[in-house]
Amino acid sequence: MADDPTVAKYHVENGIAWLSFNRPDKRNCMSPNLNRRMGELLDEIEFRDDVGVLVLKGEGAAWSAGMDLKEYFRETEAKGLGATRQAQREAYGWWRRLRWFQKPTIAMVNGWCFGGGYGPLYSCDLAIAADEAQFALSEINWGILPGGGATKVVVDLMPLRDAMYHAMTGELIDGKKAADWRLVNESVPLADLEARVTALANVLLQKNPVALKATKDAIRRVKEMSYDNAEDYLVRAQEAANSYDNDGRKEGIKQFIDDKTYKPGLGVYDRSKQIKA
Ligand code: COA
Repeated sequence: MADDPTVAKYHVENGIAWLSFNRPDKRNCMSPNLNRRMGELLDEIEFRDDVGVLVLKGEGAAWSAGMDLKEYFRETEAKGLGATRQAQREAYGWWRRLRWFQKPTIAMVNGWCFGGGYGPLYSCDLAIAADEAQFALSEINWGILPGGGATKVVVDLMPLRDAMYHAMTGELIDGKKAADWRLVNESVPLADLEARVTALANVLLQKNPVALKATKDAIRRVKEMSYDNAEDYLVRAQEAANSYDNDGRKEGIKQFIDDKTYKPGLGVYDRSKQIKA
């Protein structure tokens, strides 16, 4: 159990779980306690029937200022290798949970996003930033390489030249440049950020949830596969999805071909008419 449960919090509204880093005074940097708490809250949220989308945001001026240099690094290392490995397991553990989360996830990057923050940023399926947000791989500024997955994150998301520049200079980039460099999907003025994320979440809430989970997992999995392996994986993944919801796609076909009530190229079928999976 986390010693201080207030370091992260969430509330659920209209199908969206709004999960926050909640150490604004510490710019939401990630201590072992915060990482443990995030793991606990993901457990609470994941299979709630009233949650269709999770948004990860930061309270105050930061999204997350990365790992807590005092509590995650200095104090943990002082306790020895066992404590260091435990802290790594807990941090990487909740990011991994988030990467494969049952529900679609959106990072709402409202402010500072540094170093270790790239772990949960990458874990979220989609990311929308404020134009005013500031991103950096600051590790080089305090004398380490971008660990905790951060190097892998920028190589996965960014063109190689940009990733190299970003990691070697530690320079700040704003939300607009983060979108140009594909670290996030898009950026909007901070004043519009919550409305844009809510609109995006509402788009996802209309979709078939079994298909969404299968799709988000497939995107991450096939990235590392040969074409033939991906082709095979996708056949198996769809067949596995059918075992959870075989009616959705049949309803989707019916409403287009027979009822003529929508066109899949232009919108989504009406799930309220579908027998519950
Ligand atoms: N680890 C530990 N403490 C941190 C922290 C971090 N990553 N980021 C911020 N804090 C603490 C500060 O030490 C300060 O604590 P104090 O009030 O007890 O002195 C408090 O949070 C506020 O930070 P401050 O630096 O005063 O805020 P700011 O708004 O002037 O600057 C940042 C914000 C994010 C630019 C600055 O805090 C910073 O550079 N943080 C480190 C970012 C980083 O390199 N992270 C990578 C880690 S992998």
